[in-house]
Amino acid sequence: MLITFEGIDGCGKSSQAKLIADRLADQGIECVLVREPGGTDLSEQIRTILLDAKRSMPIAHAAELMLFAASRAQLVAEVIEPALKRNAVVICDRFTDSTIAYQGYGRGLPLAYIRSVNDLATNGLIPDITFLIDVPIELAIRRRKGMGDDRMESESRLFFSHVVQGYMALAQKHPDRIHVIDGADSMEDIHHTITRLVEYELGNELRHAHRMNNRARHAESTPALPATGDFDYSFDVTAEALAS
Ligand SMILES: Nc1ncnc2c1ncn2[C@@H]1O[C@H](COP(=O)(O)OP(=O)(O)OP(=O)(O)O)[C@@H](O)[C@H]1O
Ligand SMILES: [Mg+2]
Repeated sequence: MLITFEGIDGCGKSSQAKLIADRLADQGIECVLVREPGGTDLSEQIRTILLDAKRSMPIAHAAELMLFAASRAQLVAEVIEPALKRNAVVICDRFTDSTIAYQGYGRGLPLAYIRSVNDLATNGLIPDITFLIDVPIELAIRRRKGMGDDRMESESRLFFSHVVQGYMALAQKHPDRIHVIDGADSMEDIHHTITRLVEYELGNELRHAHRMNNRARHAESTPALPATGDFDYSFDVTAEALAS
């Protein structure tokens, strides 16, 4: 199962991702917690370039999009896909929705390109659950006081209001996947809501796996019908043969 956390800088993603990862690990569930951009050697190097607070070199919007995508492609291939194959729960602090919100709505790059680049980077992988932590921009800024802004975080309020619009549009488009969480609540209350939803989804996944297992066992115990090729479907009986 792939769970992603989304929302503007300072909304509480990393705090909640860590809390749920620890909780699942305590229950004996293998849990892989990664952040974007980052999570592999290559992706961490790309992170250094992308979040360079000193802005030591210019990065064009299209280059920014593709650097985030390159970081993601390596993370998916090297960490996320193998983890999902062994049935681990993967928790990702930011994923594809961030690119739509930040590079699409924030930077104004065409959404059609972004979707294609996202699809290529993820090999078509879509999160099972996404928590979008919604906080007013002012509150996020207050929470981040003293944390030091990176290259993305030092963007204007207008930029962030576009990012928020992007996130809300995504939530409207994918209501089954994206759960909008009120980030102004206490850390404990948010964790409680997230835990409830994750445990419900994990239960569903287990029930589904159980059903598939039963179905496979049932098929094994049913005597196999001969394959089509084993029957004689010959229709070359002639009219004379029928008449005789
Ligand atoms: N619900 C909450 N109530 C009060 N403070 C919170 C809450 N959630 C997070 N915080 C605090 O706000 C700050 C930012 O939280 P956190 O680092 O989890 O946000 P983030 O979304 O990961 O930010 P970034 O995008 O910059 O990585 C931290 O100091 C954290 O302790
Ligand atoms: Mg964070």
